[in-house]
Amino acid sequence: MAGSGAPRVIAIDGPAGSGKSTVARAVADRLGLHYLDTGAMYRGVAYAVLRAGIDPTDAGPVADVARNVTLAVTRSHCMVDGEDASTAIRGPEVTGAVSAVAANPEVRLEMVARQRAWVLERGGGVMEGRDIGSVVFPDAELKVYLTASPEVRARRRAAEDPGVNVDSVAADIRRRDEADSSRDASPLVAADGARVMDTSELTVDGAVDAIVEMFR
Ligand code: DC
Repeated sequence: MAGSGAPRVIAIDGPAGSGKSTVARAVADRLGLHYLDTGAMYRGVAYAVLRAGIDPTDAGPVADVARNVTLAVTRSHCMVDGEDASTAIRGPEVTGAVSAVAANPEVRLEMVARQRAWVLERGGGVMEGRDIGSVVFPDAELKVYLTASPEVRARRRAAEDPGVNVDSVAADIRRRDEADSSRDASPLVAADGARVMDTSELTVDGAVDAIVEMFR
């Protein structure tokens, strides 16, 4: 195990388009910490499920895939059973299937165990997701819950992919917010003790500065 004492974790949670990934990566760079995108893990499982021709809502077989799949999520890549799925996990098929996969309690158990192991191997890091501060690391040294208005979030997502239409992105964000917040297993909520930050009017640097300041 790297380092000594309790692992130092910064938990960054929030809905799609809240600026989580950009901000979490920059915070990790600024502080020289490891970074893990836990959403990429759920997307990797969804990719493996679709590849195997399994219905994403078929709980038992989906849980089996989650327990058996080899996932290697790095800063820039997501390898699924040795295959580079970095682009495919951001595509519409995986995006359409991932909420059902992430709502599966057995999938969550497996991913949470892998996420905790990731931290213990490294002695800490910046983790972003939906349930890091509430479930994965409730004792994280710093918990931040990022939000932004639905309009701003849809515009940000559309800007990442100029081919898409803002209205359809907004509809997709609303659908996923609803699914992620109303599921029984670890719904998306601001964790106890989380610092809530609305990034609608903030620049990336502004958000990163504020988080780094809170951590120090
Ligand atoms: O952050 P993202 O859009 O890449 O997340 C993909 C999906 O995974 C989304 O439906 C929320 C879910 N997710 C989750 O349930 N728990 C996490 N810790 C991270 C993501």
